[in-house]
Amino acid sequence: MTTRRDPWWSPWHEGEGALILHVDLGSDEGRERQALSLLDDEERRRRDRFVVEGAARRFSLCRAALRLNLAERLGCTNDELSFGYREHGKPFAKVNGAPSPVSFNVSHSGSNGLIGFAEHDGLGVDLEERAPGRNFDGIGSRVYGPAEQRALTAAEGQRKADLFYRLWSLKEALIKALGTGFSLNPSRFEVPAAMLGGARSSVFRFPQAPSERWWLMDLGEPRFAAAMAYRLPARAAGSTLQVSAN
Ligand SMILES: CC(C)(COP(=O)(O)OP(=O)(O)OC[C@H]1O[C@@H](n2cnc3c(N)ncnc32)[C@H](O)[C@@H]1OP(=O)(O)O)[C@@H](O)C(=O)NCCC(=O)NCCS
Repeated sequence: MTTRRDPWWSPWHEGEGALILHVDLGSDEGRERQALSLLDDEERRRRDRFVVEGAARRFSLCRAALRLNLAERLGCTNDELSFGYREHGKPFAKVNGAPSPVSFNVSHSGSNGLIGFAEHDGLGVDLEERAPGRNFDGIGSRVYGPAEQRALTAAEGQRKADLFYRLWSLKEALIKALGTGFSLNPSRFEVPAAMLGGARSSVFRFPQAPSERWWLMDLGEPRFAAAMAYRLPARAAGSTLQVSAN
């Protein structure tokens, strides 16, 4: 029987209507065996198809942590829990086959993962372990908007790498909150000017849909770049949150 001794996740950030768990995705035979025992047949088949080094481990450990936390929140057993997928692959939870409204999102990179839960639909989290020596300006010219590219070009050395990953995680969190995946060109929107200048959080609007407001937050730390974004419900916009103007 699976127990919750030695969990490989822990609370990492709480506030602004969201709870974010950090998940340790480092190699650990005992945890990996436990995680595998929690996956359903479809998830095991998916795990077996990963070819990139470490991808199967990341998926199993993160998905199993998600399962245990969702089951606790939803008051169901692990066996009663399954996942459905929206048009572009964003997962949602099902209990005994019925969709559940719980709002969550997951990200994993290297040895670190994040699982986020929010009070409302439309949550995205992203985590990126920073890899040195990439062609930051070249990649940036394809995925970043004009102001973002200017800031990236002006930065040098470690600051360029840090900015590249910071922008990436902020934009990816927004894309994941929206759920559109690669169908939205990331150069078609830019992070708020205040955040480009270093602010940790701000309200954001996609230029393509300016009536909707999103809460965007930089959660980066020395180990990795990270961010979360979620849709602000119309009635709560600007009420309880300390938001900067956008
Ligand atoms: C899945 C996607 C949304 C993110 O992929 P990624 O960065 O490799 O992976 P992450 O670790 O951050 O997130 C993966 C998790 O997101 C979730 N996910 C999958 N599709 C999703 C979608 N369309 N929207 C939100 N979340 C999604 C899943 O839970 C997945 O984890 P799982 O496979 O273990 O269940 C990818 O399809 C994508 O489209 N990325 C956008 C790429 C891009 O243009 N980035 C530019 C930033 S400037």
